[in-house]
Amino acid sequence: LEIYGERRASFGPNIFVESQWLPFKSAIDSHLHKTWSATSIINGKAVDTYEVDGQTNQLDTQTVLAPWNHEVSAGKVTYANAEVARQAIDVAVAGQDVWKNVPAAKRAEILRKIADLYEENYAELMALCQVEAGKTMQDGIDEIKEAVDFCRFYADEAERLDDVVHEFTDLAGKQSRQVYKARGTFVCISPWNFPLAIYTGQIVAALAAGNTVVAKPAEQTSLVAHFGAQLMYQAGIPAEALQLVIGAGDVGGALTAADNIAGVIFTGSTQTAQRINQSLNDHAQTSGELPVFIAETGGQNAMIVDSTALPEQVVRDAVLSAFGSAGQRCSACRILCVQEEMADDLIELLQGNMAELSVGNPLYAATDVGPVIDADAKHGLEAHIERMSAEPTATILAQTPMSSSSVVSQEKSTFVLPTAIEVKSIDVIGGEHFGPILHVLRYQARDLNKLIDAINNTGFGLTLGIHSRIENTVEHIERRAFVGNTYINRNQIGAVVNVQPFGGCGLSGTGPKAGGPHYVARLMQLSSETVNA
Ligand code: NAD
Ligand code: ALA
Repeated sequence: LEIYGERRASFGPNIFVESQWLPFKSAIDSHLHKTWSATSIINGKAVDTYEVDGQTNQLDTQTVLAPWNHEVSAGKVTYANAEVARQAIDVAVAGQDVWKNVPAAKRAEILRKIADLYEENYAELMALCQVEAGKTMQDGIDEIKEAVDFCRFYADEAERLDDVVHEFTDLAGKQSRQVYKARGTFVCISPWNFPLAIYTGQIVAALAAGNTVVAKPAEQTSLVAHFGAQLMYQAGIPAEALQLVIGAGDVGGALTAADNIAGVIFTGSTQTAQRINQSLNDHAQTSGELPVFIAETGGQNAMIVDSTALPEQVVRDAVLSAFGSAGQRCSACRILCVQEEMADDLIELLQGNMAELSVGNPLYAATDVGPVIDADAKHGLEAHIERMSAEPTATILAQTPMSSSSVVSQEKSTFVLPTAIEVKSIDVIGGEHFGPILHVLRYQARDLNKLIDAINNTGFGLTLGIHSRIENTVEHIERRAFVGNTYINRNQIGAVVNVQPFGGCGLSGTGPKAGGPHYVARLMQLSSETVNA
């Protein structure tokens, strides 16, 4: 698709030429005002009721509003409950034989077909990403592209692992072999910030491995997920292999506490991962089951800049990393650590660059920063800015206003103004603030190790940016820092599938890295067979 252009997100003022988007925009716009809807899908059927004591009851349906304009309805969502979650698990467990016996080459073919259908239906997917998740044009494009990449990469992995047969011979000449097999049923729980890419990535990885799936996407982005699931069925995923459960955290909790699941793949906040881990442990006490738990969680990501770095490049990369996707990336730069000697100049450039950002309606091709996902997110982020404004050791350096050409009302939307705050220590920041807020911290060259240790001491370990032209410095920081993904002299977001396998350590996740060579293998079990010949 021409619309995809460069794989990497380009970002920043004046990057977009409106006319370049026009042919695609009209296709996307034609889907913006459709009445989208989402329900759970169990055994291929939409579910809007549930049974209790022989009585049929209606599930709750709510209207979802566009985060950039609450006068625009994104669609209607019917939310499941614990009873629907239970049914979904039962169907997925019963469906294991159907899917695991589909040959790996056929599974791969179906996953590639999903990729093709995502591309063919880009206009619908873009419209949904924009109207429901508030994604800018560029973020929507990157979202679809990453989902497509996951399908094609994990399809390749299904075939590769099918061929991996380790053979062993003991001293007596007895033959053994080791092969990969499906594990069973995986519960896949995904966040709203990558409503198609992460949601799809989890599902297709588990399916590639021959497992059946119960997917529970984030409640904020059920419409995108529902449309994606329809394309998966259209591509040939059997009704038994994939169950979609639309619901909030309580329903996710019911799924992860269920009997007979082989594993949980979770992406979201560290707190939710800890809750699921606890629930799996509690369940293990009674059931004896030990499901695999994969969690990809939050970050408190720093970019370390020494005085040899190129200031213009640093600012461009820091602005993209902190404010791209309205800062709603786990990989986003939260703390820009600048060597004292260049801090004043760099802050001035940062203020200038932030003043150029276009904040507003994500449907405009020129918009750099759209809304945050919902009112809870907005209030939490604004409370942090307020707290920092009152904090004697912190200074607000810059705050970009809404773009004057933007016709959205701030009262009827959930925008948070991109904000840069100078802080004197990392501790004052608290945990992860998941939005367009960048903290700036000066450091003395002699305190570099203390700085790295303070970053490590946050407990998170997701991404790290390093800007320096001294190789020894880069190597030293890399060795001492405890993170999953390091980016040198560039931005620190937008990991590319099968190029930068993505995932953190510590409070940021368990691994294995998404989009890397160990991911699908982790969802399979290695089975050893010995032939007594
Ligand atoms: P969240 O933890 O609030 O929700 C994530 C998912 O978990 C949702 O589907 C939610 O309904 C579900 N959930 C909530 N409570 C649950 C429970 N008790 N049991 C089971 N499921 C439950 O996170 P979010 O706000 O959707 O996403 C933002 C967070 O995700 C940020 O912290 C961000 O850093 C992180 N994230 C991490 C990565 C990564 O790859 N490391 C990628 C994207 C987002
Ligand atoms: N994979 C996403 C990124 O790297 C989270 O930004």
